[in-house]
Amino acid sequence: MRKVVLITGASSGLGKEIAKLFQAKDYVLILSGRNEKGFEDFDSPNIEKVIGDITLKETRNKLVDLVRNKYKRLDILINNAGIGLIQPFEENTEEQLDKILEINLKAPILLTQALYDTMKMQQSGTIVIINSTSGKQGYPNHTLYATTKFGLSGFAQSLRQEAKMHNIRVISIHSGGIKTNLYNKLSIKPDLSKYMDPTKVAEIVVYLSETSGLSPDEIVINRITK
Ligand SMILES: NC(=O)c1ccc[n+]([C@@H]2O[C@H](COP(=O)([O-])OP(=O)(O)OC[C@H]3O[C@@H](n4cnc5c(N)ncnc54)[C@H](OP(=O)(O)O)[C@@H]3O)[C@@H](O)[C@H]2O)c1
Repeated sequence: MRKVVLITGASSGLGKEIAKLFQAKDYVLILSGRNEKGFEDFDSPNIEKVIGDITLKETRNKLVDLVRNKYKRLDILINNAGIGLIQPFEENTEEQLDKILEINLKAPILLTQALYDTMKMQQSGTIVIINSTSGKQGYPNHTLYATTKFGLSGFAQSLRQEAKMHNIRVISIHSGGIKTNLYNKLSIKPDLSKYMDPTKVAEIVVYLSETSGLSPDEIVINRITK
């Protein structure tokens, strides 16, 4: 039986690179994202594409339905979808706070919860949380983004303790800057010249997702600054 991997935010950046690496392996891929064009590279009977906003229950339900009713298993869940925000604290609005909490924190928690019983029934599975170095330490102009990523750290650390009783691993990837489209939408844009290649970060994510017999709970991936 083919293993099943579900990747959110697979239409761009890191998630897309992770999906490409899994596509070359013998998995069923369930991919999610809003921008249909981002999925043009993915075309195979083993690939399901769910186009929609991950903050909507309707979108999450479509993903859960594929796992529970069509494939009846889930081996790897990669919670990757997210947005960035680099902005002085006093300029942040309540709408921005609501939006970033919904996408970066609430959606992965709710999706993981909805899929957890499938892994529990299997007594196996790996839940990957794409976090950030901003989930480990604060940086100027990152207050709201760091709030969501620190939230994910607490979520992952607590869930890991519950899940290990069911042979389910929770792996947090705390990455530094990666060259992706995340920064295109921001008004303050960092210099991406020394940021990491998303394919290289994706290789680490895929490698850790597929390990067995141990739990790489948290990994920090820093860029070389020189
Ligand atoms: N880039 C970095 O420097 C960096 C560093 C550390 C951690 N990260 C984390 O890595 C993850 C991926 O980011 P990235 O850098 O690859 O950025 P990206 O290229 O902008 O990709 C973000 C992905 O998330 C999806 N997404 C965003 N909002 C969504 C929503 N409401 N519903 C469904 N999908 C949504 C996007 O899909 P659509 O475009 O189709 O909506 C896209 O596939 C994020 O969690 C980010 O925080 C990034």
